[in-house]
Amino acid sequence: MSTFESPIVIWFCKTVLICGVVLYVATIVFLNVCPSSDLISSSKFTVSLPDNSQSNASSTVTQISISDTNISHLVFGLLGSEEAWHHRKPYIESWWRPNVTIGLLLLDVPPQGEDLLPWSLNSPPYRLSDDVPKLVNETNHVDPRVLRMVHGIMEVVREAHEGVRWVIMGDDDSIFFVDNMVDILGQYDHTKYYYFGGHSEFIIANSFFSFHQAFGGAGIILSYPLAKAFAENVMSCLKRYAHYKSADKTTMSCIADIGVNLSPLQGMHQIDLRGDLTGFLSSHPKSLLMSLHHFDTVEPIFPSMDRAQSAYHLQNAAKFDQSRMLQQTICFKRANNWTFSVSWGYSAHIYENIMPRSLIQNPIETFKPWGNITFPPHYLFDTRNFSWDPCEAPHMYFLQSIVKTRRNKILTKYTRAWPRGKGVCLHAEKYPAEYVNEIHVYSPATKRIQVMFYYLNLL
Ligand SMILES: *[C@@H]1O[C@H](CO)[C@@H](O)[C@H](O)[C@H]1NC(C)=O
Ligand SMILES: *[C@@H]1O[C@H](CO)[C@@H](O)[C@H](O)[C@H]1NC(C)=O
Ligand SMILES: *[C@@H]1O[C@H](CO)[C@@H](O)[C@H](O)[C@H]1NC(C)=O
Ligand SMILES: *[C@@H]1O[C@H](CO)[C@@H](O)[C@H](O)[C@H]1NC(C)=O
Ligand SMILES: *[C@@H]1O[C@H](CO)[C@@H](O)[C@H](O)[C@H]1NC(C)=O
Ligand SMILES: *[C@@H]1O[C@H](CO)[C@@H](O)[C@H](O)[C@H]1NC(C)=O
Ligand SMILES: *[C@@H]1O[C@H](CO)[C@@H](O)[C@H](O)[C@H]1NC(C)=O
Repeated sequence: MSTFESPIVIWFCKTVLICGVVLYVATIVFLNVCPSSDLISSSKFTVSLPDNSQSNASSTVTQISISDTNISHLVFGLLGSEEAWHHRKPYIESWWRPNVTIGLLLLDVPPQGEDLLPWSLNSPPYRLSDDVPKLVNETNHVDPRVLRMVHGIMEVVREAHEGVRWVIMGDDDSIFFVDNMVDILGQYDHTKYYYFGGHSEFIIANSFFSFHQAFGGAGIILSYPLAKAFAENVMSCLKRYAHYKSADKTTMSCIADIGVNLSPLQGMHQIDLRGDLTGFLSSHPKSLLMSLHHFDTVEPIFPSMDRAQSAYHLQNAAKFDQSRMLQQTICFKRANNWTFSVSWGYSAHIYENIMPRSLIQNPIETFKPWGNITFPPHYLFDTRNFSWDPCEAPHMYFLQSIVKTRRNKILTKYTRAWPRGKGVCLHAEKYPAEYVNEIHVYSPATKRIQVMFYYLNLL
């Protein structure tokens, strides 16, 4: 370590980030440029994005903005139970914006207990679901729970305010990223029929239910005209599929009968996974993060935080810039034989080896499949095996803090979770990353999507 003298190493990853690595002791200031931008998926646009955002990007965006959809055009309908709300409330309150987000929580029975009453102003307002036994009688449905959920869509549409463009259904443990939803939905014509959602990560679940199905915990998004058509037909549909024991499959079937199929979105996550989600969240696909689900069935996503704290911690980063959340950037510091992988707003990794991007983009399989299944494939995406080989195992850092700097950058700091141990990779013997305790990532304070539009406009 004698080669390190001053405390800061600055390293440029010109496309998106400037990463400064704080070492115990450090010396080198070096410049390293990431290969082509990983922000823009088409190979045609390989321009570097500016690390400053002083340009007229935002005014340009206003001009080329494809839609004026804003948060007030969305209505949220969340299906919950009184029993679970006692501990799931923080999941929803982590993203709900009182007096800004519009919608309601449908409960099965009136809330009770000092923790729920008086009703929190930070929660969505609640309504009780329509009379389920009566509806069961009318439809002969086999499963009152399924009926309540499907009928709930109609109840949300019935109460929707004037001017609503999109109806977004979720569960009481759906964690939504609302700004990203607005940005994605703004690209579509809300006067047409659209059905958006996510597949299950557990590959068998898709074939068991349907590959056409949006898994509801990840969110089901319907354009208002489609939601209205759905609502008008809900009783006949509940009768037609009275034997179905899946609300999501019933919803999909009703929508298919109207003539519409699922448009899957890669940022909507049912999280049909178990255990340690860190690998999954550290290699997210290049799509805006829209939802996470099933926080109760995975371990807390941040070390030394509980599930509720983790939800707030992630949403706190999202407040600064949702468009970058979990977007993965891979850079190399070739002089050390190091590879950096940053999942913005969540984690950063250092590998003591030059690793191909084609590999690093695949999640490390830290998690387990949703159900008992002995042979692969388990997942709907590529994975990498977990490894203790020091040339393959990353040093892991998790989001500690996020601030806006005086120079109009966003600084995210990631701190080491635990000593990796297991020795040093031979390729990086001279530069063991074990001494790096913190990674600082600077990113522009403009939304990623705006920067992108600005450049597309120039091209
Ligand atoms: C931004 O716009 C203003 C007014 O249109 C113009 O004067 C200025 O030169 C522009 N700045 C850049 C960096 O393009
Ligand atoms: C959203 O857009 C509508 C026009 O469609 C406008 O009246 C409203 O003020 C906007 N709301 C916000 C929060 O920007
Ligand atoms: C929301 O609006 C209501 C009525 O205008 C107001 O009483 C309440 O304080 C607001 N809540 C928040 C959290 O701003
Ligand atoms: C369903 O409703 C009808 C008419 O109100 C009533 O006669 C019947 O007993 C009800 N059936 C059940 C199973 O509740
Ligand atoms: C999966 O298998 C384990 C052990 O074999 C068992 O304890 C568990 O109940 C099973 N889970 C399901 C969902 O079948
Ligand atoms: C990952 O591990 C499994 C089980 O340990 C093994 O069968 C498989 O070949 C490994 N995959 C790769 C790509 O190394
Ligand atoms: C990087 O790895 C290569 C290939 O193993 C090796 O030849 C080189 O010496 C390493 N560089 C450093 C600084 O360790």
